[in-house]
Amino acid sequence: MAWHLALDVDRGSRVPLALQVRDSVRRLVEDGTLRAGTRLPSSRQLAADLGVSRSVVVEAYEQLTAEGYLVTRRGSGTSVAEDGVGLTPVSSALTAAAATSVSAPVDGDGGEAAWDLRTGTSNLLAFPRQEWIRCVTVALGSAGHRELSYSPPAGVPLTRHILAGYLGRVRGVRTRSEDLMITSGFAQGLALLCHVLGDRGHRTLAVEDPGHPGEREFIASARIRPVGIPVDAEGIRVDLLEQSGARAVLTTPGHQFPTGACLSRARREQLISWARAVDGYVIEDDYDNAYRSRSDQPSALQSLAPDRVVYAGSASKVLAPALRLGWLAAPSELMASLEHVRAGWDIGCSGLEQLAFARFIDTGGLDRHQRRLRAEFAGRREVVRREVARQLPGTRVLGGDGGLQAYLELPPAVDEDALIRSARGRSVLIRGGRFHTLTDTGRPPALVLSYATVGCEGLARGIAELGVAYRRLLPGAEEGDAPPVPG
Ligand SMILES: Cc1ncc(COP(=O)(O)O)c(C=O)c1O
Repeated sequence: MAWHLALDVDRGSRVPLALQVRDSVRRLVEDGTLRAGTRLPSSRQLAADLGVSRSVVVEAYEQLTAEGYLVTRRGSGTSVAEDGVGLTPVSSALTAAAATSVSAPVDGDGGEAAWDLRTGTSNLLAFPRQEWIRCVTVALGSAGHRELSYSPPAGVPLTRHILAGYLGRVRGVRTRSEDLMITSGFAQGLALLCHVLGDRGHRTLAVEDPGHPGEREFIASARIRPVGIPVDAEGIRVDLLEQSGARAVLTTPGHQFPTGACLSRARREQLISWARAVDGYVIEDDYDNAYRSRSDQPSALQSLAPDRVVYAGSASKVLAPALRLGWLAAPSELMASLEHVRAGWDIGCSGLEQLAFARFIDTGGLDRHQRRLRAEFAGRREVVRREVARQLPGTRVLGGDGGLQAYLELPPAVDEDALIRSARGRSVLIRGGRFHTLTDTGRPPALVLSYATVGCEGLARGIAELGVAYRRLLPGAEEGDAPPVPG
């Protein structure tokens, strides 16, 4: 194997080359650049790459081996010795980085548990690998010079064309491919929007309360202050938004995150009137529309006012966050600014991935996949409703008509934090309403239960464990006492 190693050697220096190679490798090991276990090139290969005689490298390697920096094994060549001190294995470093992504905020516990009911991902086991591989193969096999080169920062024209048609068909989104931008997930779309809004003088962005804490952090890091607007059974309280002074709002009208409320028709009209009155914008995060339980639910809010609403979607919930595929359909005048900023950021995301996605949509793969998952999640929702009624008496299940999470409103006397701690002790990871709250602290205690990654059987068992913890906390229960499941 022709491993490569980047080393500095100075042929003009008086220091012998063998010493330079030795010192350079030693420095890289000591400062952690070369991690324990890293394979190094053979002495023949490295000598050829550096343009020095092989004996130079042999001498350096021998000395570093004698000093304990390197090990040489017959058949597997030379590698950095496994002293392990202060070095993080590559796999755990990657996991930690992933856990701190914007879309999936961590709450200090990434530990193993039998039932992980926290939101943040989808049913990744169902990822349509074979179909996706076929799409990637076709995209790559047919890619010519143009496809392998840079595409416009807003995305591959074919993908935007196909996606615009798809969004019109499934969500009633009214857009043209020129007004659609492919982003690296919704996270990047939100960052771009914050930047453009900031340039236009916005200092605040209204957000739903409760809402997504990772998004709030993201907005704040773009130097825009998120202002919480309470949510009720009809969605965001537009009357309070009107008093907030903000001129832009981030909202999840299809299925409010995390309460699951669907923005009522009256509020939709009111929200659009507000945006017009303040000469502002509504950012519609349509993150989990794929899992709407009925097709007669309202179309995207954007369809009411394409000149005031930026529609945002993502492949993270329906396919996988790893694709980092998202999209924005924006009013034309805003799109021009978004494109300008984007061109200075990353010049667009992977064209090949976008082409594979276009084919996946165009061949009906996305519709088929969604249909399969919709049926699966409808079954899981039923289990959640039934088991919560059995195991957590007195709890109301909200937001149960679609999506990937249910909002469990607990009786006022239940201590939310104590319940979460106690559930963790029973191997159930779950977050509370408070985790999602910005300032609206008057809400009853709650749990946000995701059924994205746990199947029906696991859900029933996890909720049973949660039920034990819950019944121990009910007023009147003795220490260590779990009142029996009713019925
Ligand atoms: C409310 C909400 N919006 C959007 C997203 C998608 O974000 P991204 O496309 O950056 O993965 C998520 C993902 O967890 C989400 O929870």
